[in-house]
Amino acid sequence: MSGARQVKVLFDEKTIAERTEALAREIAAAKPKNLLVVAILKGSFMFAADLLRALHRAGLEPQVEFFHLSSYMDGTMSSGTVKILRDIESSVRDRDVLLVDDILESGRTLAFAKDLLAARGARRVMVCTMLEKPGKRAVEIGADFVGFVCPDVFVVGYGMDVAHCYRELPYIGLVVTAQDAA
Ligand code: IMP
Ligand code: MG
Repeated sequence: MSGARQVKVLFDEKTIAERTEALAREIAAAKPKNLLVVAILKGSFMFAADLLRALHRAGLEPQVEFFHLSSYMDGTMSSGTVKILRDIESSVRDRDVLLVDDILESGRTLAFAKDLLAARGARRVMVCTMLEKPGKRAVEIGADFVGFVCPDVFVVGYGMDVAHCYRELPYIGLVVTAQDAA
C-alpha cells in the first residue's frame, strides 16, 4: 500500500463561492445589529475572509475579531477540551455576534465560544459554519447558517488542515492515496 497523497475534491471553488454569497444574503436577512464577526482560528480564516467580503456585498458593515481556539492536537482526534490560545479584544456587550468556523463536528469548540460570548453580555450569538457533519454532536448546539452538509470523512483545504498541511487549497476535499483516486 503506497502511492503519493492526493486530494479528492468534494466542494470546488465555484460551488464554495456561490454558497458563500447565498449565506451572506441569509445572514443579512437576519438583520443583525452592531454586528461583530468573530472568526475562530485557524481553520476558518479563508472562509471568514470570503464571507466578510460577501457580507459587504450583501449590505452589512460588520466589525471583525479573531478567536484562536484549539480542541484538536496534531492529528485527527479531538482532545475533548477547548483552549483559548488568543482571545478577542472588543467588548461584545449588547452586540450581535456571528461566530464563524470551518466545521461543526462534536460542537465543543462552538459551544464553548458561544457560551463564553453570551456570558460576556452579547445580545445575540449566531453561528455560521462552512461545513456541518451530522450525527457527530457531543454537545447540544446547532448552527444558524451552514454552508454544506459534509460526509463523515476527514476533510482538508479551504483553511482546514491535517497536521498543519493543506490549508492553502482553494477547495475542500479528502486526502486519498493516488491508488484510491484512480
Ligand atoms: P468540534 O469542536 O468537534 O465541533 O470540532 C471543531 C474543529 O475541529 C473544527 O473547527 C476543525 O478545526 C476541526 N475539525 C473537525 N473535523 C475536521 C475535519 O474533517 N477536517 C479538519 N478539521 C476538522
Ligand atoms: Mg477549527
